[in-house]
Amino acid sequence: MLRSHTCGELTKANIGEKVTLCGWVQKSRDLGGLTFIDLRDRYGITQLAFNMDVNSALCLEARKLGREFVIKATGSVKERESKNLKMATGEIEIVVDALDILNAAITPPFTIEEQTDGGDDLRMKYRYLDLRRANVRANLELRHRIAIESRNYLDKQNFLEVETPVLIKSTPEGARDFVVPSRMNQGQFYALPQSPQTFKQLLMVAGFDRYYQIVKCFRDEDLRADRQPEFTQIDCEMSFIEREDILNTFEGLVSHLFETVKGIKIDKLPRMSYADAMKYYGCDKPDTRFDMRFVELNDLVKEKGFKVFDDAELVIGINAKGCSEYTRKQLDELTDFVKRPQIGATGLVYARVNADGTVKSSVDKFYDADQLKAWAEKMNAQAGDLILILAGGADKTRKAMNELRLEMGTRLGLRDKNTFSCLWVIDFPLFEYNEEAGRYFAMHHPFTSPLPEDLALLESDPGAVRANAYDMVINGVEVGGGSIRIHDRNLQSQMFSLLGFTKEEAQEQFGFLMNAFEFGAPPHGGIAFGFDRLCSLFGGSESIRDFIAFPKNNSGRDVMIDAPSVIHDDQLKELGIDVK
Ligand code: AMO
Repeated sequence: MLRSHTCGELTKANIGEKVTLCGWVQKSRDLGGLTFIDLRDRYGITQLAFNMDVNSALCLEARKLGREFVIKATGSVKERESKNLKMATGEIEIVVDALDILNAAITPPFTIEEQTDGGDDLRMKYRYLDLRRANVRANLELRHRIAIESRNYLDKQNFLEVETPVLIKSTPEGARDFVVPSRMNQGQFYALPQSPQTFKQLLMVAGFDRYYQIVKCFRDEDLRADRQPEFTQIDCEMSFIEREDILNTFEGLVSHLFETVKGIKIDKLPRMSYADAMKYYGCDKPDTRFDMRFVELNDLVKEKGFKVFDDAELVIGINAKGCSEYTRKQLDELTDFVKRPQIGATGLVYARVNADGTVKSSVDKFYDADQLKAWAEKMNAQAGDLILILAGGADKTRKAMNELRLEMGTRLGLRDKNTFSCLWVIDFPLFEYNEEAGRYFAMHHPFTSPLPEDLALLESDPGAVRANAYDMVINGVEVGGGSIRIHDRNLQSQMFSLLGFTKEEAQEQFGFLMNAFEFGAPPHGGIAFGFDRLCSLFGGSESIRDFIAFPKNNSGRDVMIDAPSVIHDDQLKELGIDVK
């Protein structure tokens, strides 16, 4: 080894020792007679000291070192005169007596410090420099820890990690596939897996019983802060289980991660039906760090002459506690917020509950004091509270109110990133109807089993059938989702037919799975966690990019290696792809 210690470990206990450190020059300070260098490696920063009076040649050499030079320094550990107790090594310094430049460096395009002057694009182009920053490195260390602890837990529970292929078959369900042309089978394409779903089910047919894999998945979809085209799942499947077993096992995984990685004990996860999530929060991944549930007001507000409410399918309110003193400007801001095209409300009605208990609303001329009091009562609003009301078509209004609720949660400081609120959302609809395509799509995926009690509705009223599916939601983020699977060939084939597949199409696309079901498929089910999302949640960030070593930007590009890129005509020819 070139070094005796790392830059993060020397303390007062090492005073007097002769040591050799290697690392990057973070910064240097030239104080005339003395030169100090902060030397950085993965583990921390250690101060190197050079004294003009003791060794002028070495001191002059040290002064020439630029930022990010890679050096090796040998010297003795001394107690520092001015200590920095914020740093692990802040009480000592190395008085250097030998210095090697292992490699010079040109000036980096941004400062390699927690608060950097580098913009997003620049940092991504030089991601290997960005990764030298302690906070970025800490994110990847956290990711590593979560992966290790996931494996520890799953291994103890008898799960086997099995790798599944990356070059697979394109299927029409789900998101868009990334495809790879085959040279040996010209005109044919592999697809990259959107998830190992069918393979993990085949592993159950194979008798593996408990499978997991920390695995890359690929989806060609529009990108957002919590979506990357390639991302990682903790993908799991179990046999001979019921929903309860899956929920308990994976609640166990998440509790284990919170405890070992964050030192937090979490309570048993509450469960909420999809129907309740939509009714009370207007979305299937409610942020339950704060309450502010929707209250339906149709009964109280209709037929009093206010046309907006009279014409509305749904009128709902939320109670913003302690906000009755909101100024006109604040209320206008909220109105503008809900009227933004992406939210799409036509307006916002409010009612303040004054200190004396009277209620003053923006639609006073239609409602008398008693009627407004009844609103406040229904909303459980007390003196000092502000009631915010939206009205319109049911789905649209719930969606808009979800956004307003989250906005109010943020404004009121109720969405602290160090507070965690986890729950299961269960009983999703099996299908969702797509008007454009004129057919049903599987809400989760086509292998999801209906709830046994809804099986009878499968042909007569598919839209009303609930799935034996569940999502884990933490702080309003869908961190994982799964289901109990169909393991019966006939039911699976009925499912494909409800999804608009002909028998031949179903056989062509998924024959391998349905055939396997004829060879003794055990009852099975599973779940996949979005590993990047778990990491960003644990790390207190909204963006999963910060937790991926080499992420893509919002246009799906890797700006560092400049991918995707054109390929040579020769390569295209070899693949049998027409050259324009
Ligand atoms: P699903 O499609 O719900 O289920 O995916 C599981 C979890 O993966 C995460 N996720 C993503 N993370 C980052 N970028 C993306 N583009 C992205 N897409 C999804 C989410 C999500 O909850 N095979 C099924 C699981 C199963 O049924 O067992 C599946 O893939 O956190």
